[in-house]
Amino acid sequence: PNDRVAVVGSLNADLTVRVERFPQPGETLHGSELVVAPGGKSSNTAAAAAMLGSAVRLVGAVGEDDHGTFLLARAREAGVDVGGVRRLSGRATGTAMIVVDEAGENTIIVSPGANGALSPDLVDAAALGSPAVLCLCLEVPLDTVRAAAAAGREVGATVVLNLSPYVPVDPGLLALTDVLLVNRTEAALLLGAPALPEDPAEWPDLPVPRAVVTLGGDGAVVLDRTAPEAAGGGAGRVVPIAPTRVDVVDTTGSGDAFTGALAHRLARGDSLLDAARFAARAGALAATRPGAQSSYSALTGLEP
Ligand code: RIB
Ligand code: NA
Repeated sequence: PNDRVAVVGSLNADLTVRVERFPQPGETLHGSELVVAPGGKSSNTAAAAAMLGSAVRLVGAVGEDDHGTFLLARAREAGVDVGGVRRLSGRATGTAMIVVDEAGENTIIVSPGANGALSPDLVDAAALGSPAVLCLCLEVPLDTVRAAAAAGREVGATVVLNLSPYVPVDPGLLALTDVLLVNRTEAALLLGAPALPEDPAEWPDLPVPRAVVTLGGDGAVVLDRTAPEAAGGGAGRVVPIAPTRVDVVDTTGSGDAFTGALAHRLARGDSLLDAARFAARAGALAATRPGAQSSYSALTGLEP
């Protein structure tokens, strides 16, 4: 069976400093030693899926600088096929400036660098290989995301779109999406609602029939309008996933661990609900260790 995963999108060098609390505008604080580690939503997603045992191809762009060399080496070590990652001259590798507070929460500023130069012609069907599942996020240009989604459809992949970091997307891209991944804030932004009702059963329909809304420490909700109604014997169309209780150290890259684990299980033929239950555990475990990809050693043991 084809259980390959392709990920098209970003690679970043994560420059992380820990602080007791976040600074106010205009304020200077002392932080911890600087940690430089592999990141970028797509690279993280690819690493998580590969570390869980999937055959993963990453398509993206880095610069011809030290960060680019570092990120390619670390992705290879995670077991990712980086044959689809271009090195672009005259572009810096993407960088993320990350600050993590004592509660494990973060703020992130991304400087896209080479990610911003990943053009649609680099993400055609040939670049993807023949994946069962294609993962996309919004850290590369929207035209490129759209082209990749179309290529994914062309090769018969299940297209998973993580709407992060949020930018308004067009209905054309959503129509090419099989599974939408959003957090609560992104879901509200997408619906143009100030906030979502407390009870997921009261949420308006999202523009993609199959979606997972992640709720941080409160678990997740699987919304599947293609599923039979609960009365018909199935689990239903709005199914909550209970949170996995963990001691949070650093939530950086938790969402990407969720995405990678979901893709890994969807590629193996799991239902969306089963895949999302597994992914929720992966996301929680990733929050128990520092860093993004650096924390995915916590995922070993999830798969035999
Ligand atoms: O989702 C976490 C990632 O967001 C970090 O690794 C950072 O690179 C930013 O892209
Ligand atoms: Na982490």
